[in-house]
Amino acid sequence: MATSATPDDQRLSGPLAWIDPAALRHNLARVHQAAPHSRIWAVIKANAYGHGMEQAADALDRADGFAVARVAEALRLRRHGVRQPILVLEGIGDGAELDAATAGRLTLVLHDSWQLEQIVAFLGRQPAPLAERLPLLRVWLKVDTGMGRLGVAASAVAGLLERLAALAPAVAVEGLMTHLANADDPGHALTPAQCEQAHALAARHPLPLSIGNSAGLLAHPRARTDWVRPGIMLYGGTPLLTATAAGLDLRPAMTLTSPLIAVRTLRRDATVGYGSSYRCPEEMPVGIVAIGYADGYPRHTPGGTPMLIRGQRAPLIGRVSMDMIAVDLRTVPAAAVGDPVTLWGAGLPVEEIAAQVGTINYELLCRLSARVRLCYPTPTTAPGQTP
Ligand SMILES: Cc1ncc(COP(=O)(O)O)c(C=O)c1O
Repeated sequence: MATSATPDDQRLSGPLAWIDPAALRHNLARVHQAAPHSRIWAVIKANAYGHGMEQAADALDRADGFAVARVAEALRLRRHGVRQPILVLEGIGDGAELDAATAGRLTLVLHDSWQLEQIVAFLGRQPAPLAERLPLLRVWLKVDTGMGRLGVAASAVAGLLERLAALAPAVAVEGLMTHLANADDPGHALTPAQCEQAHALAARHPLPLSIGNSAGLLAHPRARTDWVRPGIMLYGGTPLLTATAAGLDLRPAMTLTSPLIAVRTLRRDATVGYGSSYRCPEEMPVGIVAIGYADGYPRHTPGGTPMLIRGQRAPLIGRVSMDMIAVDLRTVPAAAVGDPVTLWGAGLPVEEIAAQVGTINYELLCRLSARVRLCYPTPTTAPGQTP
């Protein structure tokens, strides 16, 4: 997980992930625009997809609530002072988390009957709660409508809601939710089927409904429910196979840079890096950039993958090392030691790099390691200073 940089840190060399809070806010406004009647759980799990959870929560403070995967992440947000509702998408991982969930006023997804048994046992251990502490637990019941991951069967919903109703007022059931398996593919037949199943359940059991993730809320009107749960689009990544981020008017919130630490002229037939996999076709300038797989730049990134130097594209050459990569500087002959190199972000969509690597924008963003320093603008780094 990338770590936050102090202004002093930012002056030290190495990879920096520049985060643009204005882009986060713009992308949240795009959610509002696409789903104007929905309330928004801003999904900031996994350190806000690599962008820094606390800072992202500050930038996105106009969201109606935040969603994270685990109780530990939710408690981190409470410690930071977040007052909005926090939805824990996996719910409790074991019964021992219920004390912390109650103290943290967390909203728990309930996706399996074992979690209900733990809640019943927990309530049995509590002294009669003071009225002002009620409800002790807030719950969203998750239904599996085709994702085949978490969620109870539709046929179990009525029985579970009855059991939960018997736990009132200690437990408040605040909604029904489901997760779409193929929303990124707007023509996929499963999505309308999942939406209709969820709407039918909400009609039978009148409760707020949450369906849409980013792709769902953008591409599927029936997924724009009482609450939506956008993640990737908040960070400026496209959630759709059929649209670019720019085409959806999303702005990249992260620009990953690292400086050139060497510029060499290698002779024709010289080889570059481990395995000598790249051979120079002519005498040429080669740059070495201080970023490698230990920072989260994938080791199997193929030669030819672009980076940006002085506004020009230049291709990766040779194998990615732990701390360094090499770049063919023939398109940027003026490049010099100290020049910042953009690996992705403003001017170079992360989706383009993900396609080269054979992964998705989500993974590149959230896999940055602790050695990458996250830079949010401070009074000494004007927003325009991001490369
Ligand atoms: C249950 C759930 N809802 C919402 C999201 C947000 O999805 P996206 O980032 O595609 O918008 C996720 C992300 O994985 C999720 O697991």
